[in-house]
Amino acid sequence: MADTVLEVEDLRVHYLTRFGVRVQAVDGVSFSLKEGEILGIAGESGCGKTTLVSGCMGLYIPPLYHSSGDVRIGGKTIVGLTPEENRKSVLGRKIAMIPQGALNSLNPTRKIKDLAADMILSHDESADKREINDRLRQRFERIGLRPDDVLNAYPVQLPAGTKQRVVIGISTLLNPQVVVADEPTSALDVSTQKAVIKLLFDLMDQSIIHSMLFITHELPLLRHVSNRIAVMYAGEFVEVGTSEQVIFDGRMPYTKALMGSMLSAEPGQKSKKPVAIEGAPPNLAHPIKGCRFAERCPQVQPDCRENRQVIRIVGGRQVRCQYAE
Ligand SMILES: Nc1ncnc2c1ncn2[C@@H]1O[C@H](COP(=O)(O)OP(=O)(O)O)[C@@H](O)[C@H]1O
Ligand SMILES: [Mg+2]
Repeated sequence: MADTVLEVEDLRVHYLTRFGVRVQAVDGVSFSLKEGEILGIAGESGCGKTTLVSGCMGLYIPPLYHSSGDVRIGGKTIVGLTPEENRKSVLGRKIAMIPQGALNSLNPTRKIKDLAADMILSHDESADKREINDRLRQRFERIGLRPDDVLNAYPVQLPAGTKQRVVIGISTLLNPQVVVADEPTSALDVSTQKAVIKLLFDLMDQSIIHSMLFITHELPLLRHVSNRIAVMYAGEFVEVGTSEQVIFDGRMPYTKALMGSMLSAEPGQKSKKPVAIEGAPPNLAHPIKGCRFAERCPQVQPDCRENRQVIRIVGGRQVRCQYAE
């Protein structure tokens, strides 16, 4: 069996606002990621995906704080490391992120070669200029970039697709054990989206990337991307199964509603008209007694608002709904 590279155990992460309000944005999330696996994480905007990513990377920058739970990468916990220890031994090397809005994540005032060199230097201060240059050229060529066109350019001089490729190239320079792609394709046109996903697969084929968390608010997109899918709602995982199970046979009412709210035409089929999910997710600044989806659930029962929902196994996958069958 493949080794587990990332283990997240009952992780809880919160924001503490200026007004002293505690927002429990990640509230008891557990999962593991195996070598070679892609886990998709999907949910509406604001459900806690990016906060979960910060927790998985140990990136606690106030007002974000670790409340409880563990994160282990390669069997070693990263909880409790100082930001300096985390930067030196974890970020970029054990776990690296392709950031949300990657197109704007590059510092516009520096050349690509300097931005890329920073990634190497942050882990190996003794690397010399020539060695860094050779490494960058090799890696950029390997991922289909022309070093001569790219290395001396400023981010603004590159077309969107190339910039995305550069961001992915820089993020993965140190061959991290786990790559987290947080909405890497949102705000891109469809053909650039496809190119980005193809690039990520190429990097996996070439063993530059091994395991990945792929985060998106577009659940149908994951069908051709991930092996397994976790659907997230209001800080919790509400359904976790294989991509087939979740996309074609979701059992949690939220999963079904989320699929129904997306345009997802299959080749040769007419696309169904998307139906928006009415209402809004609950405010995580207040404790919630029962099912977090109850207020919006088309199948809600009176006691759903009373009972805290726990994970059950239904049809071979995990579901957080007492009535799912
Ligand atoms: N700096 C912050 N202070 C307080 N609450 C925040 C802050 N940043 C995000 N949140 C809240 O945390 C929740 C999760 O946000 P986020 O992880 O960005 O969701 P997603 O990535 O799924 O869109 C949201 O309800 C959001 O309002
Ligand atoms: Mg996000």
